[in-house]
Amino acid sequence: MALHMAVEVVRDSADSLTSQIQEFIKKEISEGILRPGTRLPSSRRLAGDLDVSRSVVVEAYGQLVAEGYLEAAQGAGTRVVGHLDSASVVPALLDEGQVPQVRWDLRPGGSNTPAFPRREWLRCYQQVLQTADLSHHNYPPLAGEPTLRRELTSYLGRLRGVRTSPERIMVVGGFAQALGLLCPVLPRLGIDTLAIEDPGHPGQRQFLRESGLPTVPIPVDDEGLDVAALTASGARAVLVTPAHQFPTGVTLSAERREALARWARDVDGWVIEDDYDGGLWYERGARPLALQRTMPDRVIYAGTASKSLSPGLRLGWLTAPEPMLEQLLRTRARHDLGTETLTQLAFAELLRTGLFDRHLRRLNSLGRSRRDALDEAVRKHLPGAEVLGPGAGLHAYIQLPPRADEGALVAGALRHSVLVRGAAAFHARPRRDAPALVVGHAHLPRSGVAEAIRAVGAVRRW
Ligand SMILES: Cc1ncc(COP(=O)(O)O)c(C=O)c1O
Repeated sequence: MALHMAVEVVRDSADSLTSQIQEFIKKEISEGILRPGTRLPSSRRLAGDLDVSRSVVVEAYGQLVAEGYLEAAQGAGTRVVGHLDSASVVPALLDEGQVPQVRWDLRPGGSNTPAFPRREWLRCYQQVLQTADLSHHNYPPLAGEPTLRRELTSYLGRLRGVRTSPERIMVVGGFAQALGLLCPVLPRLGIDTLAIEDPGHPGQRQFLRESGLPTVPIPVDDEGLDVAALTASGARAVLVTPAHQFPTGVTLSAERREALARWARDVDGWVIEDDYDGGLWYERGARPLALQRTMPDRVIYAGTASKSLSPGLRLGWLTAPEPMLEQLLRTRARHDLGTETLTQLAFAELLRTGLFDRHLRRLNSLGRSRRDALDEAVRKHLPGAEVLGPGAGLHAYIQLPPRADEGALVAGALRHSVLVRGAAAFHARPRRDAPALVVGHAHLPRSGVAEAIRAVGAVRRW
């Protein structure tokens, strides 16, 4: 086939012609200009068009095949790898957009959540439908159904040690809505910058940037947020994941908790506690309680059903001191008219009947078993690597030996049909810590965890 392809080469460049062709094609693939599956001209044809020796093109194609950008099949010519999309060739792979079809998708979040408890939900939903009266078909109270706020008060007190009352709870459309409401409220309180953890959630960083609230990244180490760096930043509000830092998995130490409370008092500041996987704890030993209990007048505590039930429900909750809650409600009144009633009531019923606790116990027992399988697979297939943090949540952070090449491992894993994110994708600033992988495992069976890690191990180069 007489295919054409535009390639820019500069004859008097210090870079060899092979390297120029190679880099040009790589760039076109990364930017999505050369799409997956696109067939390239034969080496003879391209060499002729560029007026270079054929060996130059053969070598460039060969390198790109070795790096996983191209595939060469007998009789079918050379093509851009089919399961590699424009985003997946760089480690900073985000959730949105097209994702390649792979055998093991290890990205945390989204569709990789555990099985929804259909039977229990249906039972509670049916119960609600049968008993809901006319008032429940009216617009819901903006702060949420009183029944759910009562159930949440006792659930959060019992499980997370949160100090609150139904009057100080607001039901929201997931943590995303809580953050969306805080974006205009914080500047009204004289707070112009929000400190965030680094590494942290890339989607939240983007969300905050697009919402116009400037952020300052604060490093995280093995004790959690670096409070000295927070103090030095001059920020007066911070967003933290103290129980199970996202993504490193570390728990904020007792010393850091105290330091954070001192910081909040000294700067007259606010702490936004994102307890995104608060109910999911399967480490042996006591689970850390919410930070909110130590300084309820300075913390906006938020939780979500996204990890324990489903992100599709768009159900979350927050508790805040009364003046802050009022500000948030006033802001919300300009955005929507409350959270959908039947979902709120069904969740309240799930809590009231104890079915939610039973569901959490089941999730945690499965989580324990997957984490054991992960620890074992990492020991076996990624020697020198270590799973950080306690057994909790739906993901794990695998710290790699310092000599490991994170980007090459991510790209190599993809060639073996494993989609996994490197820690680079979660960093706001250039890295200082060791290379790592962030592995979402909630949707996998125990044997799947072992197999996926074995496939990653097969491309390790250390
Ligand atoms: C760090 C973090 N916070 C919060 C959430 C939940 O957000 P939402 O409740 O809007 O689904 C997630 C979910 O992936 C998360 O990873």
